[in-house]
Amino acid sequence: MKRFGLIFGKGSQFLFWDALHLLSSSSNYKMIKMRLRRLLFALLFLPIALSAKEGMWIPMLLADLNESEMKDLGMSISAEDIYSINQGSLKDAVVHFGGFCTGEVISSEGLVLTNHHCGFGAIQSHSSVENNYLRDGFWAQNRQEELPNDGLFVRFIKRIDDVTQRVLYEVTDDMTEKERAEKIKENIEAVKALEEEEYGFEAMVRPFYQGNQYYLFLTQTYNDVRLVGAPPSSIGKYGADTDNWMWPRHTGDFSLFRIYADADNNPAEYSETNVAYTPEHHLPISLAGIQPNDFTMVFGFPGSTDEYMPATELEMMVGVWDPAKIEIRAMALDLMGEAMRADEAVKIQYASTQAGLANSWKKWIGIEQGITATNAIEKKRVREEYFQNAVTKNRRFDAKYKTLLPNYSKLYGQWSPYVQARNLYLETCFRAIGSTSFAYQMRNLPTEFEEGAPNTAENAISAAKGHWKDYNEALERDLFVSLMANYVAKADANLRAPELNEWSNEKAEEMFNESMFTSQERFESAMSKGAKKMEKTLQKDDFFQLVLSMFSYYRSDLAAGYGNVKAQLDSMDRLYMQAQMEVFSKDRFFPDANSTLRLSYGKVEGFEPRDGVTYDYYTTLDGLVAKYQPGDYEFDLPPRILELHSTQEYGDYANEKGELPVCFIASNHTSGGNSGSPAINGKGELIGLNFDRVWEGTMSDYNFDESRCRNIMVDVRYVLFIIDKFAGAGYLVDEMDLVYAAEEVAEPVLEVQPEGGLPD
Ligand code: ARG
Ligand code: GLU
Repeated sequence: MKRFGLIFGKGSQFLFWDALHLLSSSSNYKMIKMRLRRLLFALLFLPIALSAKEGMWIPMLLADLNESEMKDLGMSISAEDIYSINQGSLKDAVVHFGGFCTGEVISSEGLVLTNHHCGFGAIQSHSSVENNYLRDGFWAQNRQEELPNDGLFVRFIKRIDDVTQRVLYEVTDDMTEKERAEKIKENIEAVKALEEEEYGFEAMVRPFYQGNQYYLFLTQTYNDVRLVGAPPSSIGKYGADTDNWMWPRHTGDFSLFRIYADADNNPAEYSETNVAYTPEHHLPISLAGIQPNDFTMVFGFPGSTDEYMPATELEMMVGVWDPAKIEIRAMALDLMGEAMRADEAVKIQYASTQAGLANSWKKWIGIEQGITATNAIEKKRVREEYFQNAVTKNRRFDAKYKTLLPNYSKLYGQWSPYVQARNLYLETCFRAIGSTSFAYQMRNLPTEFEEGAPNTAENAISAAKGHWKDYNEALERDLFVSLMANYVAKADANLRAPELNEWSNEKAEEMFNESMFTSQERFESAMSKGAKKMEKTLQKDDFFQLVLSMFSYYRSDLAAGYGNVKAQLDSMDRLYMQAQMEVFSKDRFFPDANSTLRLSYGKVEGFEPRDGVTYDYYTTLDGLVAKYQPGDYEFDLPPRILELHSTQEYGDYANEKGELPVCFIASNHTSGGNSGSPAINGKGELIGLNFDRVWEGTMSDYNFDESRCRNIMVDVRYVLFIIDKFAGAGYLVDEMDLVYAAEEVAEPVLEVQPEGGLPD
């Protein structure tokens, strides 16, 4: 795949475009096409240096696949220092944080660093009007003040093994997908049981390369994880949605936790007698700073990518599926934004829903732009043309590969309406509108009342309290009316509940206003009227009945049509992955992200987002203060930061120019889930904390492009500055291992020149 880079490398782009142009305009179509193919064929077989930066690699395979390249890029430690089963290594300092983010251990006493947006839920849960830690920040002054978090865990990876042969044992090509899945499940259970017995750790097995390979992970999970510190949101979320996914960036997106263990350092549920965990490795922290082209790596748990999908799917995704989702979210965000600006209470109620909607909405827009700007679809097509040519001509490739790409095109044509109908439904009723998803949660009420389950009404009333706390009826009515109208207009009439065929805004408004599920008062008063009455009330609640029938349509008819094609696509994806690995056998393939531990590496570097624009690789406190807008909800700053800026009290955290560095970018291939991942230098020291990607490069989930894909990190010196100088929590810095820039060994300077001048 990397060889491919040459064709589209700078200066050779004309080749592709000229060829395409020729292809479409020439009367001598066939001949030119043949020549072009031959040319591509020749080019693809040229031995070309690999692009170093793409990929999220499996830690246990680094020594074979990546180590020498990493050393060429400037790494001085070894693959064994990163992943070892024999000694403490970097992997022992990296945790899956809560299953959705990454964190790293940065002291011998179990201190864990992750993003502010990863700790957000925990920080929020301890916040109240009197102690608003989201607004003001939180710093435990001692271990007693560290705050436990019910349900939060961190997971270490103790060992990784390739168990493909054991998982695919007795799995044969003539099995149906169902038989295959059953056999695999059985084998996985057997592998897990054996490994857990042998090592005494929890085991999990995950498919890689679309189910062509399987890896085992032995893990250790700690459930007593306490909040130690967090900056105010004005620092930890500085720039909020406006700056989200953007460079230049000035967000101090970090928070601190501590892992607690029992007296033997083993996992234990929360207990006052638990003690700080002693890690097998913790990351030393570099104060030496970064320079352009420095080697960097990011170690963490990226969630999901889709790098090997056929061009047809990518084209449908950015051309049809994503625009529909973007449109729904834009409508919802407009309505929410308006209501939030008008009313402070609504602003608090919808803050987190709005942030979640806005995050993916903005990412999808960036993906679409990036795919277009880098001609990603055309590049895939050229590669597919080569692929098709190779499998048609070469008898070594099984005949079954020949029909793959044509079949994909056919199947995607069939599948697309289902995907679209499904997305429209889920985005509308579960993401954008709060009241429909609440009514869905209450879907079992009719059965519970009918069966006379004890305390049905009381339970429902108390379960609903959290929903009403963040609910605004007027806003929800607007969301329901507008977004349902959009849904009815956009979803294929054959692929949505038949009740929607007669639809109007008046009808929508009426059913909303009369429903017991759209106001706390109506809900609680209806609930108190006794089971017999309830059955009737629920029957007559048009809003509720509509939600139920939309869901039942989704679960039955739509799911059947969707699932049927999906099952065929899944098995084709497996075959196509295998085929790509055989046809492009000289390439190095990394497996798509799947929330397992991966290592990405690249270098510190800026980029050119557009013609005539160059982005530098780092930002500073000066730039942060330049964005300051007093009283603004995204760009306000605490006075203390302004004070520290004006007196320039940066201490050891300043760079060689005397500036305080804030964020930096590098070409590490990361994805959602890499939030909180350590950015590590070539010596194995922490230099930053990953928290985002640049907008121009969000398409790296589908097509990594070295010229514009950059991950964004907060510089660890800014993190320490905030802890130490801003928050006065230097006692936390004391437990970390700081590594200063190596002192230059200065030539001795002689005060008095000896007679006869200096020796040569
Ligand atoms: N874009 C980053 C990541 O995907 C940060 C998200 C949190 N910040 C926000 N403003 N929503 O998830
Ligand atoms: N902010 C993302 C997260 O929460 C990481 C950035 C990305 O998607 O690259 O995981």
